[in-house]
Amino acid sequence: LRDGPLLGVRVVVTAGPTREPIDPVRFITNRSSGKMGYALAAALAQMGAEVTLVSGPTALATPPGVNRIDVETAAQMLDATRAEAAGAQILIGAAAVADYRLHTPSAHKIKKKTDTLELSLVKNPDILCELRRAYPDLFIVGFAAETERLAEHARDKLARKQLDLIAANWVGEGRAFERDDNALHVFWNGGERELTQKPKADLARELAMLIAERFRSRTGA
Ligand code: C5P
Repeated sequence: LRDGPLLGVRVVVTAGPTREPIDPVRFITNRSSGKMGYALAAALAQMGAEVTLVSGPTALATPPGVNRIDVETAAQMLDATRAEAAGAQILIGAAAVADYRLHTPSAHKIKKKTDTLELSLVKNPDILCELRRAYPDLFIVGFAAETERLAEHARDKLARKQLDLIAANWVGEGRAFERDDNALHVFWNGGERELTQKPKADLARELAMLIAERFRSRTGA
């Protein structure tokens, strides 16, 4: 039996890292575990939402009642997210998308013939920016992981990516990534809220409640 403040609302959540191939056996990635995105997907489903998780490679189990689509690269994540967001009301970008990919991944395994090796990288598209362009009415939530000037960078991203809400957290030196607890400072146009340090599952429930509240207040429901 399903019930809750997001009953019938369709939500797409991106989560985990992306993998950008260097050659058939190597890739560039990052330290994202996917825990925050998965915990958020679970919390939203418990609140009655119809949740699709577009996930990079993680070691996590799919939360109960959540539809999961597995991807590897940023380009695949963009395509899957764009397709899933058609008909959705909320998009949450919890993925740690690689900023760059190889200009031309090698078709064959690169051999260690030289003392130095240069890789040429090109910028990946920003999934949230692309989705804002495609779906102007989508309620979009972003994350900002920062090592300095958290509030300033978060507010800047809120404006630049035309987000409805942004959840910012400190990273580096044993913080956030690969950990089971986290703290968030959430910003939106006209407000902010601090969610204090706690297990990611509890934090995800608080953030999901706040997202539901802001979504409802924007749609006037
Ligand atoms: O600009 P930055 O990567 O710090 O922004 C982080 C936010 O943007 C996260 O919500 C992340 O999921 C999203 N993002 C994205 N596509 C990218 C890079 C980041 O959707 N290529």
